[in-house]
Amino acid sequence: MSATTAIDREFFARHAESARRAEEARTIFPGGVTHDARHFEPFGIVVDRAIGPRKWDIDGNEYIDYVMGHGALLFGHSHPYLVEAVTEQVARGTHMGGSSDLERRWAQAIKRLIPSAEKVRFTSSGTEATMMAVRLARAATGRDQLLRLRHHFHGWNDSVFAAGRTSAGPIAANGQPSAMQDLITVFDQTDIPGIANALASEQFAALILEPTGYSWGTCPLDPSVPQELRQLTEQHGTLLIFDEVVTGFRASKGGAQERIGVKPDLTTLAKIAAGGLPGGAVVGRADLLDQISFDAGGGRVAHPGTFNANPLSAVAGERALRAVAEENPVAQANERASQLSRGLNQALIEAEVMGCAWADASMVHIILGQDVVRPDDGVTWDWQEHGGASSSLPTTPAEVIWPFRRALINHGVDLMGMGALVSCVHTESDIDATIDRFGAALSDLRRDEIL
Ligand SMILES: Cc1ncc(COP(=O)(O)O)c(C=O)c1O
Repeated sequence: MSATTAIDREFFARHAESARRAEEARTIFPGGVTHDARHFEPFGIVVDRAIGPRKWDIDGNEYIDYVMGHGALLFGHSHPYLVEAVTEQVARGTHMGGSSDLERRWAQAIKRLIPSAEKVRFTSSGTEATMMAVRLARAATGRDQLLRLRHHFHGWNDSVFAAGRTSAGPIAANGQPSAMQDLITVFDQTDIPGIANALASEQFAALILEPTGYSWGTCPLDPSVPQELRQLTEQHGTLLIFDEVVTGFRASKGGAQERIGVKPDLTTLAKIAAGGLPGGAVVGRADLLDQISFDAGGGRVAHPGTFNANPLSAVAGERALRAVAEENPVAQANERASQLSRGLNQALIEAEVMGCAWADASMVHIILGQDVVRPDDGVTWDWQEHGGASSSLPTTPAEVIWPFRRALINHGVDLMGMGALVSCVHTESDIDATIDRFGAALSDLRRDEIL
C-alpha cells in the first residue's frame, strides 16, 4: 500500500520498524498475524512492552491502550498484585500433574461472584468453554440441534461457529463440516417470534448468546430479550447458555446475569476470569456439570485438557476475582468508560462529524459517519428510540475504519476494533488525553477528506 494521504504518510514515518517486522512476519505467519483480530491495514504496530493502561511499540511510540488483552485486562497490563501472584507461583510449579489447592480457591472465587455457578470446570480458553457447554447441553438433553444468534461470537470451535458476519466483517466458515453447520440454526438477536417458534419444535439442546448483545454489545440487547429467552427455553426443555467470556466480571461483578437478573443453565467464562492469563471455565447447574464426573458412569462426558486449571492462571484468576469482590475495579472502570463516551460524543459534536459513542459498563462502542441516534447521557442507550431492542445498527463505513484507526494510532491510541475496553487503571487524565487525541484524529480525517 502506498501512502496517499497525510494520515498514511505519518503512519509509515512513525512505524518504520513495525513495517520491517511485518514483512518478516508475513513469511512466518499466515497473513503475518496470530489472531484474526490483530489484522491491521497495511500492517499492525509491533508491541514491545506494556504496563498499566499504556503500551509501547518497537519504534518507541507510546499508546493509551484500549485493546486491553482483547478484554482480558480489567486491571490493565501487568498489575503489581497479579505480577506478584504469578511470579511466586512460577517458582512453586507451573503444572502440578494433579489437583491443587489453587484450583479450588480459584473456583470458589468464581462461585462467590457468578450467581448461577453451582459447579465449575476449567478449560484453557473461551473457545474450549463454549465447546464444552454445548457438549454438556447435548448430552443432558439428548438433542443435537443448537440455536444461536446472528453475529454473536462464541470462539472458533465447530460446535458454535457458523458462517455469517460479525460487526467487523464476514466470518469464513470454510473447513467447518457442513454436517456441523446443519446442526446450527441462527436467528436475529431480537427475533423472539422466530426463536419461540423454533423452540416449540423441542429439538434444540441449547440456545447460546452474548447476553448484552453481539460482539460485546456492539449492538446492544435490551435486557427484556434474555429475560424472555429464559422463560421460552425453560418452557421447551432447551438449555440457556450465557457466553460471558467478555461480560463476566465486567458487565457487573457477577456478569450480565447478575445485572439483568437471569440465571442461565450454563455460563462460559475466560479473559478476566483467568486474571488476564490463558484460561476459561464452564460453570452452572451442578446436575449438568456433574455429567463430567466419573460417578456419571456410562453416560459421562469426558473432559481431558493438559492446561485445565493451570496453576499460573489459577493464581492470577483467584487474585483478580478477589479484587473484583473486595475492591471496586468494575465501578472504577465503568466511571472512566462513561467519561470516555461523553467526551467522544462532545468531540464528534465539535468536529461536526456524524456518529456516536456509548458505554455499556466498561465497554465503549463508536460509530462514525452514520446518522445514528446519540444516547442521552453517553451511558444509557435510549431503548425506546430503537424500538425497544435492535437487531442491527449501522456500522462505520469500511472506507473510514482503517484511516480512522491509523489516525488514532498516529496520535497514540489503540482501540479494540471500533470500541474500547476500559480498565480500572485508566486515569481521568488518560481519558481526557484520549478524547483530545480522538478529536485530533477526526480533524485529520476531515483534512484528508475521508469524513
Ligand atoms: C463472547 C466470546 N466468547 C468466546 C470467545 C472465545 O474466547 P477465546 O478467545 O479465549 O477462545 C470470545 C473471544 O473473544 C468472546 O468474545
